[in-house]
Amino acid sequence: MTYEVEQTIGDSSWYTQGRFGMFIHWGLYSLGARHEWMKSREFLTNEEYDKYFKHFDPDLYNPELWADLASDAGMKYFVVTAKHHEGFCLWNSKLTDYKVTNTPYGKDLLKPMIDAFNAKDIRTGLYYSLLDWYHPHYTVDVKHPLRYNQEFLADQKSRDFNKYVEYMFGQTKELLTEYGDIDLMFFDFSIPPEEGFLGKGKEEWQSERFVKMIRDLQPKILLNDRLQLKGDITTPEQYQPREWIKVNGKRVVWEACHTFSGSWGYYRDEHTWKSVDLLVKMLIDTVAKGGNLLLNIGPTGRGEIDERAVDRLKGIGKWMRTHSRAIYGCTAAPEEFTCPEDCRFTYNPETNRLYLHVYSWPFKNIHLRGFSGKVEYAQFLNDASEILMVEGQQKMTMEAGAFNEGRSADTLTLQIPVRKPDVTVPVIELFLKS
Ligand code: GLC
Repeated sequence: MTYEVEQTIGDSSWYTQGRFGMFIHWGLYSLGARHEWMKSREFLTNEEYDKYFKHFDPDLYNPELWADLASDAGMKYFVVTAKHHEGFCLWNSKLTDYKVTNTPYGKDLLKPMIDAFNAKDIRTGLYYSLLDWYHPHYTVDVKHPLRYNQEFLADQKSRDFNKYVEYMFGQTKELLTEYGDIDLMFFDFSIPPEEGFLGKGKEEWQSERFVKMIRDLQPKILLNDRLQLKGDITTPEQYQPREWIKVNGKRVVWEACHTFSGSWGYYRDEHTWKSVDLLVKMLIDTVAKGGNLLLNIGPTGRGEIDERAVDRLKGIGKWMRTHSRAIYGCTAAPEEFTCPEDCRFTYNPETNRLYLHVYSWPFKNIHLRGFSGKVEYAQFLNDASEILMVEGQQKMTMEAGAFNEGRSADTLTLQIPVRKPDVTVPVIELFLKS
């Protein structure tokens, strides 16, 4: 049994199979090390921000190490900020001087990254900011760093937004023609009108013409939903939806993106880091609702992934090594299966196996209402050890004569050990009868 999901125009087969990706936010803000929005939050001018451009030199950058970490964590695609809101480009764009090749580092960062990740069978996604706080023709809006700068505001006439749009088209074309197959583009984002400022949406970006150009260049590409058009993938940010995301009443391909801590770009002094336990649960929860998880790292100005992120990635990888079968190719369980308390279900429709993720370890038994007669075999995923099952009101094997604990005739009881297996989230694999 599978759910009906709105068809995508691009190829989403690899994407819903892989389920788990790495987001990478890297740019000049990594040097400021206090949020990728610092230019806007602190109302900085180009001149004030220029010191980061002059000092950008990630000498320890080694994309093979990044790709190893992503691969060991079980990630199947990555999405990197080719350009974030600050306008700085990680590739050698012919359309601007505001790019990595003009910093002390002096080399293209993007190509080696794509090559390193692809070599590990990790697909390529590029993030491109629609906002641009550097480009001379990008007009003011409620997010712009200079929105209250009188000098900047007085100079509106010198800006021709169509020239910016042309630049955005041209840069996107570069990215889609010079870097091989690009599997996904993540555009960010459309701005509603607010506080007396005009918004920017599909009219301003010329989204329809833009998408046509993109699909002509890379027909299989997946596009997100922030051009004020529906897109292939819906991208809730920093929250866990309560259920499978629907657009116009139909289930869609979706992806939650999350940070490890409260910032996308490297933030030295931010300490609200999520635990491995929470992150693994977020991954499971997302797949249990038919979605993907894109987890972000913010590399440092030296070009490294900081210890706190490495620690999380390794922890997730440790769990994934034995449990990825409950993630890859999995989706929400068919509705007939009611999930017990403190648990999540994921389901692989190809193999007809149901995965019971136990978030909080109960005492001795897990009762599955409505499951009697439906399961052929049950085992822990971490060590393939059998889980004994008791059908309906039949007596428990190990405690003959005991009460039946109020089990109904349609209950299937899984007899679990008192001690929780030593893994972040234990998973019981249920082989369903066909
Ligand atoms: C946002 C933020 C941002 C981040 C992104 C990730 O809209 O502006 O800094 O890149 O979402 O989804």
